[in-house]
Amino acid sequence: MSILRLRDIRKTYNVTPPVPVLHGVDLDVEAGEKVAILGYSGAGKSTLLNIMGLLDVPSSGSYELAGYETETLKPHDHDRLRADVLGFIFQDYHVLGYRTVAENLDLKLSIAKIPHAGREQAIDRALQDVGLTERKHSLSRLLSGGEKQRLAIARAIITRPRVLLADEPTGNLDSVNARIVLDLFDQQAANGVAIVVITHDERLAQWADRAVHLRDGKIDE
Ligand SMILES: Nc1ncnc2c1ncn2[C@@H]1O[C@H](COP(=O)(O)OP(=O)(O)OP(=O)(O)O)[C@@H](O)[C@H]1O
Ligand SMILES: [Mg+2]
Repeated sequence: MSILRLRDIRKTYNVTPPVPVLHGVDLDVEAGEKVAILGYSGAGKSTLLNIMGLLDVPSSGSYELAGYETETLKPHDHDRLRADVLGFIFQDYHVLGYRTVAENLDLKLSIAKIPHAGREQAIDRALQDVGLTERKHSLSRLLSGGEKQRLAIARAIITRPRVLLADEPTGNLDSVNARIVLDLFDQQAANGVAIVVITHDERLAQWADRAVHLRDGKIDE
């Protein structure tokens, strides 16, 4: 069974004039699979990722995530499902610069309603996973770009998601740091986590198990 299943997903932004972006996207992603979605700027990649991440709703179509028919869920249940199942990674890291590394992770655990008792251990484990143990009490804004992205990955995986969604995760990184990020993704995939990466970088297409193109609002395998 697919962890992520999209059928005939359509999206038009209701502005004046309306902006039609997705014209019937079909996509299945299995547990442990690494999928790259490629497409030109403006093709609708972020739109699709926002829908997969339950941050936006499609105009029509069906989206099943971890066995849940998301269109039948209430907004509150979307929040719950997002916190339980998904992890996000963005090109520009989205870490809180004036909080320490540990505080950034603790905030995520708090949003996911993880009890205080287990948090310290979870933080230490996540930092170890991404090789940031030494920076636990550093202010996040003092980290290098590669370190910030590793913190963002730690924050995404600390709740043990079943799906990682990444929007241009290596876009701001040199090749050494990009390789580190992909190695971390590989470890997650080996543990059964599905990875969906949105990119216009052909190197990520090489790395993925499967690369698909978003073209004219549809997926082209
Ligand atoms: N909130 C919005 N309201 C109206 N139009 C939007 C909105 N968000 C995105 N769009 C439009 O939808 C189209 C697809 O945008 P999207 O951000 O999904 O593209 P993208 O493939 O991620 O591009 P990039 O590679 O530049 O990030 C663009 O034409 C964009 O202008
Ligand atoms: Mg985008």
